[in-house]
Amino acid sequence: MGGLRRLEYRGYDSGGVALVGDGTLISAKKAGKLLNLDAELAERPLPVAHTGIGHTRWATHGAPNDVNAHPHLDETGRIAVVHNGIIENFAVLRAELEATGHELVSETDTETVAHLLHDELERTADLSDAVRAVCRRLEGAFTLVICDADHPDVVVGARRNSPLVVGRGDGENFLGSDVAAFIEFTRDAVELGQDQVVTITPDDIVVTDFFGAPAATKEYHVDWDVSAAEKGGYDWFMLKEIAEQPQAVADTLLGRHSQGGQLQLDEMRLSDGELRDVDRIVIIACGTASYAGLVAKYAIEHWTRIPCEVELASEFRYRDPILDKSTLVVAISQSGETMDTLMAIRYARQQKARVLSICNTNGSTIPRESDAVIYTHAGPEIAVASTKGFLSQIVACYLLALYLAQVKGTKYGDEIASIIAEIDKTPAGIQRMLDEGDQVRKLATELAGSRSILFLGRHVGFPVALEGALKLKELAYIHAEGFAAGELKHGPIALVERGLPVFVVVPPKGRDQLQEKTVSSIQEIRARGALTIVLAEDGDEDVVPYADHLIRLPKVPTILQPLVATVPLQIFAAEFANQLGNDVDQPRNLAKSVTVE
Ligand code: F6R
Repeated sequence: MGGLRRLEYRGYDSGGVALVGDGTLISAKKAGKLLNLDAELAERPLPVAHTGIGHTRWATHGAPNDVNAHPHLDETGRIAVVHNGIIENFAVLRAELEATGHELVSETDTETVAHLLHDELERTADLSDAVRAVCRRLEGAFTLVICDADHPDVVVGARRNSPLVVGRGDGENFLGSDVAAFIEFTRDAVELGQDQVVTITPDDIVVTDFFGAPAATKEYHVDWDVSAAEKGGYDWFMLKEIAEQPQAVADTLLGRHSQGGQLQLDEMRLSDGELRDVDRIVIIACGTASYAGLVAKYAIEHWTRIPCEVELASEFRYRDPILDKSTLVVAISQSGETMDTLMAIRYARQQKARVLSICNTNGSTIPRESDAVIYTHAGPEIAVASTKGFLSQIVACYLLALYLAQVKGTKYGDEIASIIAEIDKTPAGIQRMLDEGDQVRKLATELAGSRSILFLGRHVGFPVALEGALKLKELAYIHAEGFAAGELKHGPIALVERGLPVFVVVPPKGRDQLQEKTVSSIQEIRARGALTIVLAEDGDEDVVPYADHLIRLPKVPTILQPLVATVPLQIFAAEFANQLGNDVDQPRNLAKSVTVE
């Protein structure tokens, strides 16, 4: 159950387990969070066993109820299957099974696999062979993990387009959607490739393709331990991850630059010559990661003068985008498994574009399918709402932009060194925002009855506003929207009414008049009755007369401001949700890794 609990962040519509021992298979499953399964198992304990599988579900086919929960069994109850992904041809398979007399009890696509396996096992006694034969018939995305009462020491897994990793233990081996499942027992992991079947026994791991040919695998050592996947005294993972941000940012920067400012990105498998040829950058990502991409656009265009676009991965390939080998596609993904982003990468590579990914999860699919990868090294992010993932993605984007500037010669070495020196100071600035978090928590308590909150920003403050609004939507389930402050007067200002809380991220004072223009926006909304919560740097006195609440930010260069300005918005959303009694780590309807399109 420990492993399952550490995977619960991936989906919490239901949970279930199946164990094999003494020639029989026993299973239990329950809708809702794992607490419900815990209660069921307390009432009806399962026998001790050494072979078993478990699942936490994010529902796609069929409502999140007990019957649709995994594992799914064949009619004889000897085979149990858990599955992530979507089997696209399941309707055809189901009709075929029903025509041959099978009775399916759930509405899921997964159950078809248990019945197909049953039929295959009448043709072959070898469970792995049967799994391979079934996989050859399946279309879509799937990770399958299977156990069978007649093979008590064997678990078979298969993957296409969905994640599955192997843990190599001592006299015991493991499978999991990510390493958190088995980190308590081993930090030695084996990456599986696309369309592979893995058979584990206590002493052996055998990997083949779907036709039984031996397949090459890659082993790696996980650089964090079980304590990183525990709450460590915090009430919520999200609070722990917010607090870890100074370290996460420092770890993203670690070893990436020399004293003289020369940047080294050692996972960069693209040569300097190839990078010099890049004449356009397209960033693809989803949700919070796409907001990191919006920040990156400002940094990339400003420092490298390479035109840069940011596109939602789910939209990208459907508009026939223009790509060629001089286009660098940058895919940003914390999990490395987001299906929309993965499909966009595959499309880009078919069009001959080069793909560089920015990712936090070693061994995941997106970096494996990219031409180059910059890992963020932020450590495991368990809370569904991304926090340290976001800040470390932004830092990795800065590093990429500066690297390109170095290769292309658009910035002198000493200029790069001085920007890096400023980035190096940001962990201290983030720490200060954490230390001053009480002001924001108090504000969240005061505003917890609000049904609508707006967020405004300009320049890189605009993506910060979008991120502040997204955090609040996903955790507090209220209307929250981020706008570019200059856009306000083109429509959204009509939303402003007496008492409406509006956060405004004010850029540092500079030559571009952005600060002055943002102060005007604050005046405009305040004149219409808004309750203004202003985030402005130390020493900015212009905002004081118009701020109902003033959150001070450390002085940083404009482009780096998201690293400090986002932190109070994260704290605000977490505390607001807490005040409402919501589950901060597992907000309703969401899952951490969105492995379906
Ligand atoms: C929001 C959030 C999501 C993810 C998005 C992409 O808090 O976590 O919007 O940012 O689903 O996920 P990754 O980065 O794993 O590709």
